[in-house]
Amino acid sequence: MDNPVIAASTQRQIGYVITGIVLLAMAVYWLFNWLEGRHETGAEVELAANRKEAMSDEEMETKRLDLSLTGGLVTLTIIALALPLYWLGEPGRQEGLVDFTDTQSVAQGGELYEANCAQCHGSANGDGGIAADFSLVDTNGVFVERVQWTAPSLGAVLDRFSYDELKYVLNYGRQNSPMPAWGAPGGGAMTVQQIDKVIAYLSAEQKSPEEIAKGVDSGLAGAALFKARQDNAAIYSEQLRLTAQIQDLEDDLAEMDSDSGEASNLAAEIIVLTAVKKDLANELSSLADSILLASESDQLLEGELLFNNPAAGGAYGCARCHSAGYSYNANDYPDNPLIDPVLNGGGGFGPSLLGVRDQFETSLEMEAFIFSGSENGIAYGVYGQGDGGGQMPGFGKCWAESDAVGVVPRIELDRITGHCAGTNVISLEAHDGEIIARDGILTPEQIQAIVAYERSLDS
Ligand code: HEC
Ligand code: HEC
Repeated sequence: MDNPVIAASTQRQIGYVITGIVLLAMAVYWLFNWLEGRHETGAEVELAANRKEAMSDEEMETKRLDLSLTGGLVTLTIIALALPLYWLGEPGRQEGLVDFTDTQSVAQGGELYEANCAQCHGSANGDGGIAADFSLVDTNGVFVERVQWTAPSLGAVLDRFSYDELKYVLNYGRQNSPMPAWGAPGGGAMTVQQIDKVIAYLSAEQKSPEEIAKGVDSGLAGAALFKARQDNAAIYSEQLRLTAQIQDLEDDLAEMDSDSGEASNLAAEIIVLTAVKKDLANELSSLADSILLASESDQLLEGELLFNNPAAGGAYGCARCHSAGYSYNANDYPDNPLIDPVLNGGGGFGPSLLGVRDQFETSLEMEAFIFSGSENGIAYGVYGQGDGGGQMPGFGKCWAESDAVGVVPRIELDRITGHCAGTNVISLEAHDGEIIARDGILTPEQIQAIVAYERSLDS
């Protein structure tokens, strides 16, 4: 019915009619009863029901009575037991629904991830490192170069960011990088619920602390090669130049008549150049081997390798945020005068760390900062800055609560009190989650080594 006022009055009218009919029926019944009563005649002794002889106990207590009494007792017992039992099961049923909803969120988040994120970040618990096409522009917006920008693995993202910090990246993306804004606050296409589902999926897919520790170690060889190339830039740029030259010659060769003398001369030249290039690559890789070996007994060197760790698309290191050009291999463009080579700690998305020892008076304070990262709106360091929306990740051990899908969100160490304080993921409040400690991305010794290295960077 369209109009609720009309509906209400119609209902009331029907009610009046029914009341009228009932009252009329009662009046008629009473009238007939009264008329009947007037006809009654005879002795009270014969007519009154209670003056008749009663039935004996044997006649009355039949099987039928027993049956109905037992039936009544059984029904009562069932009702008396079933109600509290049902009531007892209620919290379980509610939890089951939450579990079910969580599992559904995770599944739907997985679909969203596959459709929108996997092409750059790879599988959620994978090793990242998939490169995204990106047009580099200068500060005036003029095109510089088309580069491949490595996206980090998200398999340990909740070890370095809290739920709110992660949500911030998803909502706003990363300026001047291929990472777009996804949430409505940043002008993206995803709803608040979709963002929550993606996070639920990511948290269900996080790597174990053991896998992370292995990943960190596996990247050190790559960091050593990066250092060998940096320290021997002339060799590396010759290797790059030869790679490009060989490619050009191979393209030329493909267009030639393969039987011609010119073609066989070209093929011979390619073989010679390839051998030279291989020698240069071998030289750099044996230099890298000795760097890696030396890092085992040299804390500064260990710190530098950890800082430049390329494993999991750079997810475990610092360079991708603190050294501009690291993520798109800026050292691979020696011929483009508009692209500067990577300057370690020279600043990128995160601030420059050159001379950062002035920012934290002691190594210990700096270690505590890298342990837990920055928090939105909370100042840190001597000059009391800290407005990056909490985008400096935490790398140390962290505490988390488990929830229905085994989600382990990061709960940060409060730098001031030394206690855990943090935000929960999704429906965590609904569970009396058990507190678990996660090892974090780096060990205290590794953080010490990085800090030693950072404090050696001069401005
Ligand atoms: C076009 C490629 C691309 C797509 C698509 C993309 N990302 Fe990214 N994302 C990146 C790159 C590149 C970075 C690193 C940016 C940088 O170097 O600062 C990044 C960074 C991030 C970070 C920050 C991680 C960290 O530790 O700094 C998160 C979280 C993230 N992306 C999540 C997502 C999610 C979730 C989706 C899908 C909804 C997504 N991204 C889609 C390219 C992409
Ligand atoms: C995802 C990008 C990112 C990564 C990875 C990252 N940082 Fe940062 N870092 C930042 C941002 C952003 C800030 C500024 C923090 C703020 O304002 O909240 C910062 C601030 C800092 C500062 C304070 C510097 C200052 O002058 O304010 C230090 C020290 C630092 N980072 C060290 C590190 C170290 C060491 C690592 C690696 C173990 C690392 N960062 C990895 C983004 C990053």
